[in-house]
Amino acid sequence: MTPVPEYGLSPPTSYGNIRAVDRECFARVLVTGGCGFIGSALLRRLLAGGVERVVNLDALTYAGRLANQEELAGDPRYRFVHGRVEDVALVRELLEAEAIEAVLHLAAESHVDRSLRAPQIFVTTNVVGTSVLLEAALRAPSVRRFLLLSTDEVYGPTPEGTSFDEGAPLAPTNPYAASKAAADLLAGSYARSFGLDLVVLRSSNNLGPRQAPEKLVPLAILCAREGLPIPIYGDGLQQRDWLHVEDCCTAIGDALARGEAGAVYNLSSGRTCSNLELARGILARLGRGPELCAHVADRPAHDRCYRIDSSRLRRELGWAPAYELERALDATVAWYLDHPAWWQEVREPFRTYYREQYGRSFAGDDLARKDPEDPR
Ligand code: NAD
Ligand code: TYD
Repeated sequence: MTPVPEYGLSPPTSYGNIRAVDRECFARVLVTGGCGFIGSALLRRLLAGGVERVVNLDALTYAGRLANQEELAGDPRYRFVHGRVEDVALVRELLEAEAIEAVLHLAAESHVDRSLRAPQIFVTTNVVGTSVLLEAALRAPSVRRFLLLSTDEVYGPTPEGTSFDEGAPLAPTNPYAASKAAADLLAGSYARSFGLDLVVLRSSNNLGPRQAPEKLVPLAILCAREGLPIPIYGDGLQQRDWLHVEDCCTAIGDALARGEAGAVYNLSSGRTCSNLELARGILARLGRGPELCAHVADRPAHDRCYRIDSSRLRRELGWAPAYELERALDATVAWYLDHPAWWQEVREPFRTYYREQYGRSFAGDDLARKDPEDPR
């Protein structure tokens, strides 16, 4: 066992045995990236949990949609701010004016494929944006805790038969992962150097509602619906650990309320499966055969496997996933089927992206293929 990196702070006073975010501890929170996939699930959990004030700072990139937080907009406890995390004046002003007590930093450029095409925006948002938030949080007298949602990708590929604990060295292989590793290390440096009360969660792949359709799970669901081939990179035997987004939000609440100051926690379901297995599982749920899986050229620097050990989070904070992978997949597929208006809105941008990203990979005009049940 490698030693766990502690960022050198004594634990906070006890926050009690709570499962959701404790409103007495942190009544006023800033969530960054709340119009994205995990952020929008988190906003719902915070408001349902009775938090007094929830401010969402989001730039509304391709991955962030107002529709993801639409029904929250009427809640007087909730405020949406359209802006960027690297905007120093805006971030400072928000922390002060809203007397924010906890910063939950989720905003990021999050898609590996995009980072391979245009890495610089990943540095701007993920590295510079995180540094702006850390600096502002340190200087805001009201802020008592900072939580960064990091990723298992910071460790790089996991060797066969092993899993990484929090002490493993960071060895990212793609620009997305490298920018997240930089943010993660920078956050740790603010705890060590300046005593910022900070918790880092390194999460495995999430699945669930409202994920931008460039990512594998919604991509596979939408392709299956549209009768388009699902692009499988390389042999499709790469392993990922899949976690339902609600389980991720529970862990965020646990870490925020009871995590040790300065601690890093790995967050994973412990259930890995190959991309091919996952895509086939989705197809089966939609009544489609595996022949819709189409192998395409592999992603550059495609990490073969991510496997992380989340026993610290389970042992110290009592976290455990509520969803088995099969149930997480059932619920996720059902959500997309039950919300045609949600994906109808992303359909055209998705098809444009799909054509640009995969068009050349497929022989023939597969993009012209339509679902026979689709009237368009
Ligand atoms: P996402 O791409 O769905 O959403 C990101 C959100 O951030 C979007 O709403 C976007 O508009 C916003 N954003 C982007 N740049 C911004 C900027 N400069 N300023 C303000 N807002 C900006 O991402 P997600 O999947 O919800 O991931 C959330 C966080 O969790 C990210 O930090 C990601 O690295 C991390 N994470 C995600 C996963 C996963 O499987 N989704 C796994 C591990 C870690
Ligand atoms: P993705 O959803 O992009 O998330 P991440 O790269 O952050 O893990 O990819 C999940 C896995 O699916 C990853 O191993 C790459 C693979 N993948 C494909 O095989 N085809 C695709 O079209 C995409 C987007 C991903």
